[in-house]
Amino acid sequence: MDLSICFSRAVGALVLLGLGGVVSGAEARRVNYDETKVGKDPLPPLMAASDGSKVETADDWKSKRRGEILELFRNHVFGYTPAIGSDLKVEVTEKKDGALQGMAVRWLLHLSLPSVPQWEGIDLMVYVPKGLPKPVPVVVGLSFQGNHAVTTETDVPISKKWMRPGKQEGQVVANRATEKARGAESSRWPLKMIMEHGCALATAYYGDIEPDHADGWKDGLRGAVGLKKVDNEWGAIGAWAWGLSRMLDACQQIDGVDASRAAVIGHSRLGKTSLWAGAQDERFGIVISNNSGEGGAAPARRDFGETTKIITSAFPHWFCKRYSTYAEPNTHLLPVDSHMLGALAAPRGLYIASAVEDEWADPKGEFITAREVEPVYRLFGKDGVGVSDQPAIDHPVGAQVRYHVRTGKHDVVDFDWEQYLKFVGALLKP
Ligand code: GCU
Repeated sequence: MDLSICFSRAVGALVLLGLGGVVSGAEARRVNYDETKVGKDPLPPLMAASDGSKVETADDWKSKRRGEILELFRNHVFGYTPAIGSDLKVEVTEKKDGALQGMAVRWLLHLSLPSVPQWEGIDLMVYVPKGLPKPVPVVVGLSFQGNHAVTTETDVPISKKWMRPGKQEGQVVANRATEKARGAESSRWPLKMIMEHGCALATAYYGDIEPDHADGWKDGLRGAVGLKKVDNEWGAIGAWAWGLSRMLDACQQIDGVDASRAAVIGHSRLGKTSLWAGAQDERFGIVISNNSGEGGAAPARRDFGETTKIITSAFPHWFCKRYSTYAEPNTHLLPVDSHMLGALAAPRGLYIASAVEDEWADPKGEFITAREVEPVYRLFGKDGVGVSDQPAIDHPVGAQVRYHVRTGKHDVVDFDWEQYLKFVGALLKP
């Protein structure tokens, strides 16, 4: 067996256990990596409305089916997003003209809700390329470790919020980041490449919205707003997705950014989040899911890699309470699946990306999702990925819906960004 695959499976299990999951050893060992054993449960129909009528036109989709699917995801997977945010307060804390050796203007902003004073708000960082004649499109994405970890620039404050342990010793001490964490995530955010492609980047720490652990809601936005503990109440992914929309709101106030041309991006759990943000907020003209896996672009019904049982046991706070009732052997009862989440991006740009060693996230399943959204795109005269089988490694396919599986492991690397930035350039023209 390929050792790199062993490694990636081990990492999946370690990540799982490291986050205090309650999955038994037997359950973790049961994880299937045999394509012949994935099961044959058909995906729920995308192109038939709940009353049995066929979805045949773009209008059928827009006026009926899209709304139905959105409601199903609210009721069964991510929960309802409360109607908060209209009083968003945006304060500029710094505007630096010569960031990134003169390539960019760097903005630091604080976003808060006066109606929810207990919530500490979001520290947003925006890099805007300099010297371009017209306002530029913006890529909006949350980071795992905070603004100071996205950039190596030494004058970005270290986040004071709760953090998961860092990859290297000393980066996070007693759940607080240290100076050693500066730039720790910078390989995932190639700032100069983004600027060179004439794009702005708006990013913030996901823990500003809610710390990522089972009790994180108590110190996050969901707790501050108040939870009623009902089955279809929003989970942390819902809260993080809400944050992405507020980050886009704030971009409307930034010189040189054309917020009407926006892409939302996320990796892994934040890839699940970007799919949900893009589903709910149609201002995002492009939705990018990087290695999002289970609960994101990988179908729940395919038993390959992580399962619904594992994810809802290890990370119950990510989803609405009801989602755990669809853990194996009940996934066939789930009224939606990942192809319906992907289709909520239509007819906007959708990019789903996998990594070949990231079997935990089920690369083939992620491809199937990209492929299966096609009938909806066709209604709008747009193409899907255009192939029926997963393409060769490092060979992206598709136009309005794009997919690639790249060499390597669960991560965001330059190859991914090169594809995403080309996609933004092609689709988000002024
Ligand atoms: C775990 C989890 C995945 C998730 C990943 C991540 O591996 O099981 O569902 O995508 O963490 O966010 O890094």
